Amino acid sequence: MSQFHFDPATYAEFVRAEIPRYDELQAMVADATAPVTATSILDLGTGSGETLAHVLARHPGARAVGVDENDGMLAVARARLAATDVRLEVADLSDALPSGPFDLVVSALAVHHLDGPGKAALFARVAAALRPGGRFVLADVVVPVGPAAPVIELSDGYDKPSTVAEQLGWLEEAGLVAAVVWQEDDLALLTADRPGAGH
Ligand SMILES: C[S@@+](CC[C@H](N)C(=O)[O-])C[C@H]1O[C@@H](n2cnc3c(N)ncnc32)[C@H](O)[C@@H]1O
Repeated sequence: MSQFHFDPATYAEFVRAEIPRYDELQAMVADATAPVTATSILDLGTGSGETLAHVLARHPGARAVGVDENDGMLAVARARLAATDVRLEVADLSDALPSGPFDLVVSALAVHHLDGPGKAALFARVAAALRPGGRFVLADVVVPVGPAAPVIELSDGYDKPSTVAEQLGWLEEAGLVAAVVWQEDDLALLTADRPGAGH
C-alpha cells in the first residue's frame, strides 16, 4: 500500500502546497553538505530526486545512490538525474543500506515515515555507512515543542515524526556528533558528523 502514498504525477505540486518552505528546505540541505568534500553520496527516500539534484549540484562529479520504496517516484528521479552518476534502488529504509562508505548521507522528508525505534536503528546504519569525517544531513518533519502548532498535515499510520531532542539522542547513540542547523514549527534540519578525519 505504501507504494501509493505519493503519486509521482502530482508530487511536485502536492508537496509545495503541503510544505510552503519545501524549496528553501532543499537549498538548506545542499548548503549543509557544502563543508564535506564528497565523491560518494547516499540519499534516503529519494522520491522524485529533488534533494539529490540540489546536493549533486554542490558536488559535481560525485557518484550517488538513492533508495526509495516507491519505484514510480524513482522513475521520475531516473529521468531527472539521467545526466548524473546516480544509481536508484527500490528499498525500504528499514532494510540494510547500500554498501558504503559514503562521504555524505542525506535525507529530506522521508525518515519521519519510520517510528522511533526504526529511526534509531536507521541512524546506527547511517553511522556505519559514513566514512570517518563524513556527514549525515537530515531535513524532516518533527514534533514541534513549546507553543508552535504543527503546520504540516499528517497521515495516521504513515507519518510518525519524532522530536528534535529524540533524534539528537539517537544520532549521538549511533556515535555521531549531531547539531541542529535550523528549526521552525514542525520542520528541522540536523547534521550529524562521524568523528574522524576532517571533512
Ligand atoms: C515526501 S517524499 C520526499 C522525497 C524527496 N527527498 C524530496 O524531498 O522531495 C518521501 C519519500 O520517502 C519515501 N518513503 C517513505 N517511507 C519509506 C520507507 N519506509 N522506505 C523507503 N522510502 C520511503 C516515499 O516513497 C517518498 O518518495
